[in-house]
Amino acid sequence: MSYAHITGWGMSVPKKVLDNQAITQMVDTNDEWIVSRTGIRERRIAGEDETTASLATQAALNALETAHLLPASVDLIIVATSSPEHTFPSTASLVQDRIGAYRAGAYDLSAACSGFIFGLNTANQAIRSGDVNNVLVIGSETLTRFVNWKDRNTCILFGDGAGAFVLQSSEIPGGILSGVTRSDGSGGDLLILPAGGSFMPANFDSVHNELHYIQMNGREVFRFATKVMANATQEALRAARLSIDDVKLIIPHQANQRIIESAARKLHISMDRVMVNVDTYGNTSTASIPIATCEAISSGRIAPGDKVVFVGFGAGLTWGATVAQWSGPIVPKPLILPTHFRFLARLRSLLLRLTRRIEGVIWGRIE
Ligand code: UT7
Repeated sequence: MSYAHITGWGMSVPKKVLDNQAITQMVDTNDEWIVSRTGIRERRIAGEDETTASLATQAALNALETAHLLPASVDLIIVATSSPEHTFPSTASLVQDRIGAYRAGAYDLSAACSGFIFGLNTANQAIRSGDVNNVLVIGSETLTRFVNWKDRNTCILFGDGAGAFVLQSSEIPGGILSGVTRSDGSGGDLLILPAGGSFMPANFDSVHNELHYIQMNGREVFRFATKVMANATQEALRAARLSIDDVKLIIPHQANQRIIESAARKLHISMDRVMVNVDTYGNTSTASIPIATCEAISSGRIAPGDKVVFVGFGAGLTWGATVAQWSGPIVPKPLILPTHFRFLARLRSLLLRLTRRIEGVIWGRIE
């Protein structure tokens, strides 16, 4: 029997910080309103040279470094994202090429802000089935590129960033103990990016009518979120045969401080058992849970053996939770570090492109 242990974690955020004061220059809002209604004080904004794939690549390399695992050993890469670089190829394929994970299959997972939870649960199932041993699950976003900076309902909320976990199979019991994955498509219109898909490809009208930006019914999403966060946590704990008292730390999706506090109240736990960093990053969608986890570990709030719950919600509507027993690296440190692979990966990618070109010329496909 294989268990899926979380053996590596890493994050990467853009350099540029946008605080609430800066947003008051764009829309009719103020720092006091944003902090009291959301808990957010600042967020990171991707610069020109920072993309969903570049942030994901750096987070993945950091996670591999923590796990002592080389990219060549990765079997599967799942990138959960709502802001992929393209409709296709997948952002996961770009990451696979850039880190040099030449044995890995790679695909994107679209479940909005619940995507990282859905990715963890899928990776757990893949490892438990015995099909794969080493999986990278990444949440990466540049959602601020889809935000209407004239809409004060949404532009205050989102931020950019990426986070990644390495999951590895082991015969030792532990790792991911249970997972809950849920959807309710009847609420799809509550949080939507209307244009840019096959239903309404981007055109002059869609841009003119600003349909290529995020639209949200904040109050309804808030109501839904406060209902499902505690329920999903309890359901996942029941499936793992644990009680809330067994849990060291809850790491929720960082959307709004008030939603997190409401979930804590419903679970009858104090806020010191809940990780919150929405104040510094805003809502980074799929990246929020792995980023919060990295910060929880670096501040000493989780240690090997601790039980943790990851719980999230998002557009779709989607929601889910994962219960895990914290692990850490299970293999010794290699001589070459995963980050050294970046150069080798670039060289390999160049050689593959060159070979494809030369073959094209030889066989007359390219002049
Ligand atoms: O990953 C999932 C992503 N989405 C979410 O998590 C969103 C969940 N929803 C929320 O977090 C909250 O609903 C918001 C933070 C978006 C809004 O907070 P709220 O307490 O639900 O405010 P509201 O929408 O009920 O609006 C209250 C008032 C309104 O004015 P009136 O109609 O009462 O005069 C808004 O126009 O606040 C106004 N308002 C603002 N005022 C200053 C809305 N946005 C702003 C703003 N600054 N940025």
